[in-house]
Amino acid sequence: MAEPDVTIFICVSCTVDGNKSEKPGRALFDAVSSAIGDKPDCSTVVKPVDCLAVCKRPCTVALSGEGKWTYVVGDLDAATHADDVVAAALSYGATLNGIIPWKERPQCFRKGVISRVPPTSFRPEEQGL
Ligand code: FES
Repeated sequence: MAEPDVTIFICVSCTVDGNKSEKPGRALFDAVSSAIGDKPDCSTVVKPVDCLAVCKRPCTVALSGEGKWTYVVGDLDAATHADDVVAAALSYGATLNGIIPWKERPQCFRKGVISRVPPTSFRPEEQGL
């Protein structure tokens, strides 16, 4: 089985103001999973994770793909941003390096980027570094 082009990791453990009965990441995970499920030809998978180490900015997700930069994004709303996460993942999958053109990024991704991490294949000398 071929590896998916994009993996969306979603933290399902974040709480809101320490209220452990409220897990907005789980709701976002469910909504994104449902939206991806509506796109059977989409080479994107969604995986729940316990923590992305940005607990103060729920909901948090990471987009990752072989040979691509990994993006960690926070401040996402489970009720309103599921379609944006899917759209960003599809744009991400269409890139060679994982860097989504600015104009294709949903507004919540423009504001919510926390970090990006290069792929292990990254060659700084190719960037003149
Ligand atoms: S518990 Fe969600 S990022 Fe840490």
